[in-house]
This record gives sequence, C-alpha cells and structure tokens, in this order.
Amino acid sequence: MLSNLKQSADTTPNKPLFIVFEGLDGSGKSTQISMLKDKLKQMGRKVYVTAEPTSSATGGLIRDALSNNYKREPSELASLFLTDRVSHNVNPVWGIKKALKEGSDVICDRYYYSSFAYQSLGTDLKWIMDMNLNCPQILKPDLCIYLDVDPERCKNRVDSERNHLEIFEEDAKVMQKIRNQFFDVFDKLGSSENIQIVDANKPINEVADDILSIVMGLK
Ligand code: TYD
Repeated sequence: MLSNLKQSADTTPNKPLFIVFEGLDGSGKSTQISMLKDKLKQMGRKVYVTAEPTSSATGGLIRDALSNNYKREPSELASLFLTDRVSHNVNPVWGIKKALKEGSDVICDRYYYSSFAYQSLGTDLKWIMDMNLNCPQILKPDLCIYLDVDPERCKNRVDSERNHLEIFEEDAKVMQKIRNQFFDVFDKLGSSENIQIVDANKPINEVADDILSIVMGLK
C-alpha cells in the first residue's frame, strides 16, 4: 500500500490543495478526513486539518447558539459563520491562506456549503450565497467532497454518539431537509465549484478509496 501511495505521489498536483468535506452530522467526515490526511502524508505531502466553526471567539458564539444556550436568529447565525470564515481564511497563525502559502494541503471540515444548506432553512439563500461567494477574503476550495449518507442513518449515529444534541441534530426530518438543501445548492452552483458527491453508505475503506481517487485526479 505504502509503495502504491509513494508512486501516486508523482501524479499528485504540485500546488497545495484546499479540500473541503461536507455532509450531514453523523456522515463520517471526521473518519474520512483523518484517513485522507494519513494517505496524503504517506505521499510526503504536508497536511493541515481544520474545521468550521473554528475555535475563535466567534466560533464560541456560534457553539453557544448551536447548543441552544443562546438563541440566535438564522440571519445572525449566517453572519457569525461568515465572520468566522473570514477569520479562518486570514488569521496569521491558524488561517487557511497561511497554511497554503507554507505549502500544506488544507483539509477543512465544513465550509460555506454548510452555510448555504443549514442557514437557508431560516433565511434567504441568495443573500447567504452573495455574502460568502463575493467576499474577497474567502477562498474558493479546489474540491468539495460531499459524503452522502442516508439521513435516518446519520440521525441514529448522532443519537448514539452524542450526550447533547445540537439544534440541527434534533430531528430526522430536519436532516432530510438539509440534505435536500445541499443538493439544491449544488445544482445552483453548477460547474462554478468542483463538488464531488461520494456514496458514503458503503464500507469505510471503499469510501476512502473513492475519495483518494478523486483527490488524485485534481490538476
Ligand atoms: P459539526 O461539523 O457537526 O461539528 P461538531 O462535530 O464539532 O459538532 O458542525 C457543527 C454544526 O454547525 C453542524 O450542525 C452544522 C452547523 N454549521 C452551520 O449551520 N453552518 C455553517 O456554515 C457551518 C460551517 C456549520
């Protein structure tokens, strides 16, 4: 396996890659991110794994809202995610641009696609898309991998793994709606973004292989 990976290192792009993982809560993003990170590292690439919401002060405000400790209007939440995302791009210590500049691939657990799918449940999708896509500080990823898992299955996983459910994890119907929103948004974005939908109902290793072959295909 290792020698295969070393060989495929010759075919990986020279530039650092910015890869985003999206999917419902409980879709297995963390597992797949960590598997991809290991494979890229075995190929001799530097990898920086990061996530949204971040652990910044704004990220803290977001987590308070997600755990329902502090109620926010959907448009407040959309604005907080936007602010958090700008910091995530430009922060001189833990920012995405800094990592890319230093030659690391960046793998990010959630990005603006989540704002489009989740916040559009409560506020205007076009406004959210405009804010994020037209913000000069917010980079466009090279690739977005959407891990597609049956919402019922995600809901069961979330129920068994979490002590406290966040606001978007409470109801299987809401999770189904969010999946629909993701697909609606991907349709709207069309070929302006590189979005790859991966069937993540399959065994973990098969999903990981599918992801690796998509990443290897990046130019
Ligand atoms: P999640 O990836 O589940 O993090 P954790 O495993 O630490 O809880 O993300 C937290 C929640 O935030 C998730 O329900 C999706 C939501 N979210 C949005 O609503 N909008 C966004 O822009 C982002 C990045 C996340």
